[in-house]
Amino acid sequence: MVSKVLLMLLILAICSTFVICNAGGSKKKFHNKHKEGWKNGHDYDSYEPKYDGDGLKDNFYHKSCPRAEKIVQSVTERHVSSNPNLPAKLIRVLFHDCFVRGCDASVLLNSTGNIQSEKDANANRNLAGFDVIDSIKAEVEKVCQETVSCADILALATRDAVSLQYGRPLWKVPTGRRDGTISLASETSTNIPSGASNFTVLSNIFANKSLSVHDLVALSGAHTIGVGHCNFFSRRLFNFTGKGDQDSSLDPNYADFLRTQCKNSTDRITTVAMDPGSSVSFDNHYFEILKDRKGLFVSDAALLTDDDARRFALKLLNPKKFFDEFAKSMEKMGAIGVLTGSQGQIRKHCSLVN
Ligand code: HEM
Repeated sequence: MVSKVLLMLLILAICSTFVICNAGGSKKKFHNKHKEGWKNGHDYDSYEPKYDGDGLKDNFYHKSCPRAEKIVQSVTERHVSSNPNLPAKLIRVLFHDCFVRGCDASVLLNSTGNIQSEKDANANRNLAGFDVIDSIKAEVEKVCQETVSCADILALATRDAVSLQYGRPLWKVPTGRRDGTISLASETSTNIPSGASNFTVLSNIFANKSLSVHDLVALSGAHTIGVGHCNFFSRRLFNFTGKGDQDSSLDPNYADFLRTQCKNSTDRITTVAMDPGSSVSFDNHYFEILKDRKGLFVSDAALLTDDDARRFALKLLNPKKFFDEFAKSMEKMGAIGVLTGSQGQIRKHCSLVN
């Protein structure tokens, strides 16, 4: 009898873990999980380091700074609780970091003397969240000096910020990245795609980073959170081909709505949610609006102009498929051009080379 009761309890425990861990389920099921912290996730301290390709390992700081990942998580959680827009800011910073010189925190460096760093390039003008990375780094440094890289802190904090609403990490972040010492504004324009890019430009830039068309589509799903400034898409509303027309690939009713938001074609101040009504919730709703021709940028609409990309975008209307593919692509993106071993350095301050 006692053993039957124990068996029942065990089955119940397994079932409840499965339901909570199924991030592909409907988003309602997981809302407000952040109040419970990482209850349903991994206990990082219990990880034995395991090599993943590219010289990164699961829990690289296991011995050198066992509390590192927990500190990153708790400071990130604190910041996201007071600023729900932070996940969007951080994931965009990570994308812009990884696409220029790899994920080496080069985007975090300040300009020095007459050398303009990536941070001050046009493409990075609206990036935000640097102060949060600096504050996480300061907390980590209090416990482990010059041990945990800014590149790893950015990768972990991004994952933790985006995942918070689900109470469990949405993708794996193997660690061991080191920080770069070079950051040049001039390298951004060729590596960071603009919102006006067509499919050929997008797929070429991604291929240069060893990312496939499927990675391009899945990662564009990050546009389910955050905002865009009017000047990045207003040509689609006011003067698409130079004849005062609008972009025919944009839903006309949505274009009417957007014109009520943006004052004119050069409005650099006003922002519009990229996934209206759901812009602080990380989910696959971007693919719904994309299908309905309401993607905000030319680069979003471009995903429907290629057969393979369009078919894949439609597959990501399935939430489980989206979460799986997004996780895979984020892991690939987080490993682009990483510095490991004795390469680069571990910065003391994320905005300055040692
Ligand atoms: C595929 C090529 C991409 C293009 C052309 C592109 C372009 C843009 C543009 C023009 C903006 C608006 C910036 C502003 O108004 O300040 C934006 C915002 C954003 N992008 Fe992308 N993006 C791309 C891919 C990605 C990827 C791969 C990610 C992350 C994995 C990402 C995450 C974001 C987020 C979260 C925002 C909103 C930021 C905020 O709210 O401040 N984007 N993107």
